Amino acid sequence: MESEMPQLPRKDEQKKMLARAAADLVEPGMMLGLGTGSTVDFFITELSQRNFSGSGLTIVPTSRASAGKAEECGFKVVSPSASAVPDLTVDGADEVSRDLSMTKGGGGALLWEKIVARASQRRVYLADDTKLVARLGKFPLPVEVTPFGHVYTAILLRKFRAATRLRIDASGEPFETDSGNLIYDCNFPADADPAKLDVDLSSVPGVVTSGLFIGFIDILLTVADGQTVPVSDPSDVFW
Ligand code: 5RP
Repeated sequence: MESEMPQLPRKDEQKKMLARAAADLVEPGMMLGLGTGSTVDFFITELSQRNFSGSGLTIVPTSRASAGKAEECGFKVVSPSASAVPDLTVDGADEVSRDLSMTKGGGGALLWEKIVARASQRRVYLADDTKLVARLGKFPLPVEVTPFGHVYTAILLRKFRAATRLRIDASGEPFETDSGNLIYDCNFPADADPAKLDVDLSSVPGVVTSGLFIGFIDILLTVADGQTVPVSDPSDVFW
């Protein structure tokens, strides 16, 4: 009889599994960098269910939305400061490639996510299996730009062969980040090299940051064969 392939958990089920696995890495009294997005929402709910709010855990959030959610769950929330350096940051991802580069910023929190992650001692990212790709690029790359002169900035982005689209919010207005900036969602040609693009984009006046997160992953938690799997090195990559 043929062995049956395990049924792949639905996307939200995977996110919940990842949230549980990430919660296992949290310890009472930690300074925790909290990412943004639906996976992170499951994670904060999981921490709340495990009664971490009374454990001395302090949260440095990466968006107003995550700060609100953490406060709702009874957590102590602080802003970045010299005495609030995260021991660990847990965040989601939009795409992860085989060299463990990532695209983030689907939720528009890329700048604060990058700042908090870079300051952290350790970074853990949660990616359900729909986020695992051979090469980055299917998910449009969010590029955060200053409102001033953003149309000029978009013209410069197109010099890197990008198709650019100003992000619009649900009310039809330009989407505004928590820092008051705008986002262009960009499609670059398939042969674009993410590492070079990262450097190129940072040279454009008006670009605040991009959603390219290269060299950020300490541990990636993903799902394979119905189990959460940690990936900490390109040699662990299975997709
Ligand atoms: C927000 C992000 C999120 O981490 C990313 O969009 C993943 O979100 P989700 O967990 O909802 O799939 O980068 O800026």
